Amino acid sequence: MYRRTFLAAAGLMLARPALAQGTALRIGLITPPAHQWSKSAVALAARITERTQGAVALSVLPAGQLGSESQMLQQLQTGALDLAFLTIGEFANRDAEFGALLAPYLVPDIAAARRLLEKPAAGTLLARTAALGLVGLGFGLAGMRQTLLRKPAATGADLAGRKIRALPLPQELDFWSRTGATPTPLPLPALYDALANGQIDGMQIDFEGTWNSRYFDLAQEMLASNHMMFPMLAVASGRRWKTLPEEVRTLVGAEVQASLTEILDAYQGIDTTYRSQIEAAGFPVRTVGAEFFGDAVPAWYDAWRAKTPILTQLEAEAGRA
Ligand code: BEZ
Repeated sequence: MYRRTFLAAAGLMLARPALAQGTALRIGLITPPAHQWSKSAVALAARITERTQGAVALSVLPAGQLGSESQMLQQLQTGALDLAFLTIGEFANRDAEFGALLAPYLVPDIAAARRLLEKPAAGTLLARTAALGLVGLGFGLAGMRQTLLRKPAATGADLAGRKIRALPLPQELDFWSRTGATPTPLPLPALYDALANGQIDGMQIDFEGTWNSRYFDLAQEMLASNHMMFPMLAVASGRRWKTLPEEVRTLVGAEVQASLTEILDAYQGIDTTYRSQIEAAGFPVRTVGAEFFGDAVPAWYDAWRAKTPILTQLEAEAGRA
């Protein structure tokens, strides 16, 4: 105990001269304040303030306040933004290998997703963020992907021609095309209005967002399809990171790791909790498996194994191959 207190004090004494001027950092997110990523970012900021006695201040900018994820990625690259919790979308648009993480039915549940994100293929992808001018700090995730529909679909064939929202990245758009649907790329902040005004007939989303944003008020059926995991990447701006004192990098890196652990832990229960709340509100949720989507899943793998070699490694690590 004495030793830990002493070391902590020594750390602060070491840190103080470099931190004396104050270091202002910003973290950007696409998710609304009620989302777990945003809540964990706020807790991260509070811990950093406490640990540095205010010498390092982290401002949290949720709900796309800094623009789209594409714009945030550019800000990270120029050093205008310090940190972000990002979906895989913009990574996959710049380096297709990242999109392999969104392979349909790669993992059955959150526990398996978490294990896969600790294996070598995910580590390889994390390191590839350097080529984009970023420092990859680690993976988190959100809930498994489900399918919310304005009108019920008794079978997969009923999806034909329906406009289903997907993330704007090739692998997701391709999956929905193969189901017979018309994939419609839309970012998170656009979803409520798009569903309300009929721009889309349904969406790929999770239970958490469906409950928090009450998308189900605008729909008639939710398919618990559990068809993809949804990793998050915590990244820092490479430009900004190298200008920060080493003790700030160490502290921020360690606290981001703590946030990622908090997020990974939270998602062990989030899908079940929000699914129950949606069902308790009287909204129909129906479990479907890969067979619902006909041959879309095997055809997707045939195409993407050739285009993104890391997919085969991910399949092997997931125990799928
Ligand atoms: C989405 O675009 O569906 C999404 C983005 C971030 C977290 C969860 C969902």
